[in-house]
Amino acid sequence: METLSALLYLVASICFIMALRGLSSPETSRQGNIYGMVGMTIAILTTLASPIVQSYWMIVLGIAIGGAIGYVVAKKIEMTALPQLVAAFHSLVGLAAVFVALAAFYSPEAYGIGVRGAIAKGSLVEMALGTAIGAITFTGSIVAFAKLQGLVTGKPLVFPMQHPLNAALGVLTLILIIWLVQSNSSAAMWLIVLVALALGFLLILPIGGADMPVVISMLNSYSGWAACGIGFTLQNNLLIITGALVGSSGAILSYIMCKGMNRSIFNVILGGFGGESAAAGGAAKGPQGSVKAGSAEDAAYIMKNAQSVIIVPGYGMAVAQAQHALREMADVLKHEGVDVKYAIHPVAGRMPGHMNVLLAEANVPYDEVFELEDINRDFGTADVAFVIGANDVTNPAAKTDPASPIYGMPILDVEKAKTVFFIKRGMAAGYAGVENELFFRPNTMMLFGDAKKVTEEVVKAMEA
Ligand code: TAP
Repeated sequence: METLSALLYLVASICFIMALRGLSSPETSRQGNIYGMVGMTIAILTTLASPIVQSYWMIVLGIAIGGAIGYVVAKKIEMTALPQLVAAFHSLVGLAAVFVALAAFYSPEAYGIGVRGAIAKGSLVEMALGTAIGAITFTGSIVAFAKLQGLVTGKPLVFPMQHPLNAALGVLTLILIIWLVQSNSSAAMWLIVLVALALGFLLILPIGGADMPVVISMLNSYSGWAACGIGFTLQNNLLIITGALVGSSGAILSYIMCKGMNRSIFNVILGGFGGESAAAGGAAKGPQGSVKAGSAEDAAYIMKNAQSVIIVPGYGMAVAQAQHALREMADVLKHEGVDVKYAIHPVAGRMPGHMNVLLAEANVPYDEVFELEDINRDFGTADVAFVIGANDVTNPAAKTDPASPIYGMPILDVEKAKTVFFIKRGMAAGYAGVENELFFRPNTMMLFGDAKKVTEEVVKAMEA
């Protein structure tokens, strides 16, 4: 039986690896999801069939409660609130790691790792690491959730001696782990939990503005390592492999996003080094002149007579669910012989791949969708940049204002197009809270209104 379950766990692990591989491209992502589901089904059934399971009622109750909550949340959640949801789920993974480690600490016999007060040293190290990473993930994810939900300000929250304090807490955690391994002391175990909870809170608090995307993927990575830690405690190979897959893929994604955002990964891991200047300045500067507001008819006329149009979707497109209307607009333009492309910024929207998912849902052909580095040069020759619900990802302050929270982030050079349309409801700033001077440029025309409604009006005007 043991050999069979080891074999089935191996099959499930391979499915998870294939799932990750599939998810790396929009074309194969559906297949990737299927591999993931098959792998998870095999894993769950194998675990349930294990002779270690002594009673099923607790498991069934857990599945019923968790499943019901998951069902309600999945039905209710808006696409735009997914990042918060992901952050909230990460916090639960972290908390689970802490609980499992505490359970193993108080009942080591049940886990075959020694007896109370004389737990094997190796197991104590695994347990302590799982606890510390889990607790950091728990409070860090709660802060990320609060920032994304708008419960606390998205700006970096900095205070004097923040970094020395974080460093001191990090060193203290290491000392406590050594103490725990030497003494089996429950005081040491609980102090690790407390210090790591504080550390998670303090590490994420100073990260703000445009750096939240990196934080989400970092926390994703942490939750994977926490699960990996639980895997060692439970001596479950599948959990070790799956946790390591989540941990390493999250770390790779964070690295890619840091590169995309022109940030140092160490600064983000260590809790927003460099956030001080951004917190001090760079906020909205107030009106910088007058804006030119246009109508859907103006936009329709200019775009129908253009040779090339580059569409720049952002968070507002997701809020308005304007992707279908947008594709319809692109279809009409293509029918008129206009060259249409979509430009995607790595952090447009509120989660990695947010815009790609929405455009794929509206059946936008993949070969019309370009990443920042592949399309930025084309704005210089484009007639129109149609910026729909995007703001920060086009803001030149990222290049010109060292005090801005988005300084250093590469942007889509929409300003180089002959005409730039900004579709948004008013003059509000984007996520980073920075005024966008492009709204006041002579080649910019604002199309005020809900992104879906305005786009539908443009389509109607083009067809009229
Ligand atoms: P933002 O800079 O946040 O700008 C979105 C704009 O959409 C706002 O200025 C808003 O202006 C407009 N808007 C909102 N609802 C709308 C609607 N129904 N119709 C029309 N317009 C609407 O978005 P972005 O350019 O996509 O940049 C993303 C930002 O989020 C970056 O700062 C990024 O770092 C951050 N972030 C990204 C992620 C990931 S992983 N992508 C995660 C967390 C944070 P009005 O209110 O005036 O309409």
